[in-house]
Amino acid sequence: MSASPPSVPAPLGLLAELTHRCPLGCPYCSNPLELDTRAGELPADDWKRVFSQASAMGVLQVHLSGGEPAARRDLPDLVAHCAAEGLYTNLITSGVGLSEPMLKALYDAGLDHVQLSIQDSEPDSADVIAGYKGAFRVKQEVARRVVEAGFPLTINAVMHRANIARASAMVDLALAWGARRVEIAHAQYYGWAIPNRAMLMPDRAEAEAAIAAVERQREALAGQIVIDHVLPDYYANRPKACMGGWGRRSLNVTPSGKVLPCHAAESIPGLEFWTVREHSLEAIWRDAPAFNAFRGTDWMKEPCRTCDRREVDFGGCRCQALMIAGDARDADPVCHLSPVHRRMADLAAEGLSTPETAYTYRAMKKLTPA
Ligand code: SF4
Ligand code: FES
Repeated sequence: MSASPPSVPAPLGLLAELTHRCPLGCPYCSNPLELDTRAGELPADDWKRVFSQASAMGVLQVHLSGGEPAARRDLPDLVAHCAAEGLYTNLITSGVGLSEPMLKALYDAGLDHVQLSIQDSEPDSADVIAGYKGAFRVKQEVARRVVEAGFPLTINAVMHRANIARASAMVDLALAWGARRVEIAHAQYYGWAIPNRAMLMPDRAEAEAAIAAVERQREALAGQIVIDHVLPDYYANRPKACMGGWGRRSLNVTPSGKVLPCHAAESIPGLEFWTVREHSLEAIWRDAPAFNAFRGTDWMKEPCRTCDRREVDFGGCRCQALMIAGDARDADPVCHLSPVHRRMADLAAEGLSTPETAYTYRAMKKLTPA
């Protein structure tokens, strides 16, 4: 086991992946290819213990996610527990399966915020991307109910080749649906996005046009809607501080109770993950080998080790470094200083020359009937 660092500041946020079940099959889903089964999901009492431990550690925000978190009928009970612990709760939902009675129960339980995903501003295209006929209309109705109930609403839209021409239209749609924020996030290539990379990758000109259009809207719509813009990695020169730095700001708990520093951490071989079934959240955050593997800067190789941005971006994404540069301790290849930076553009170009075929949809899991 790695030695615990002398002091590790508490995380700000906890992402609770309550279930991997989901009626949609988005081809860029960041969930692992091997999904946790319903039988393996943590029961409500275990989740409540985790939320109490998170609150005691100083966590402020809990993001209730999945899969589709509304697939769990005990969701209002979990929200009420978080509220009693003083935690701010954000529901990250596809909207499909979020019934009117469930929304009312969540309101009564004290839910603070709803983040609703959309796949496109064009209904037919949105349904194809989601792999679910009628999804767009359901989301539109859910957005209406969410706003009517008085929840602050954020719309999240993932950009890729099939919808990138409508990036600005999605900002307009979020505004029309009553959202206070919209997140325009260019696809990140983990989980299900890897087998679909060839179909999802936009070309550089499309990506640059979409970025410029959304940045113009940021100015034009200031005071009406907040735009969060997550830029595409494959055409960038500087990496993002993935997760705000490994083991620095937040942690993910999987449906079965494994605690991960990021959603793709299990793709890094040799890391030892601890579970909330066996350890307290506080012990995991401080001592679990997976959290200490890339915490801080001591693990870095050149060029990160002596770079003056090493405490700004923490070397970028460990999972992308492993996947493309071959070692999780390498600089994220998004960085122009990475010896394999060129590989990003080559991979993007490979995608563009691949004939467009049907997506490999995320394995479908049916919602449990109410
Ligand atoms: Fe960031 Fe490493 Fe690139 Fe420096 S060399 S900018 S720390 S990824
Ligand atoms: Fe794992 Fe970025 S997704 S560190």
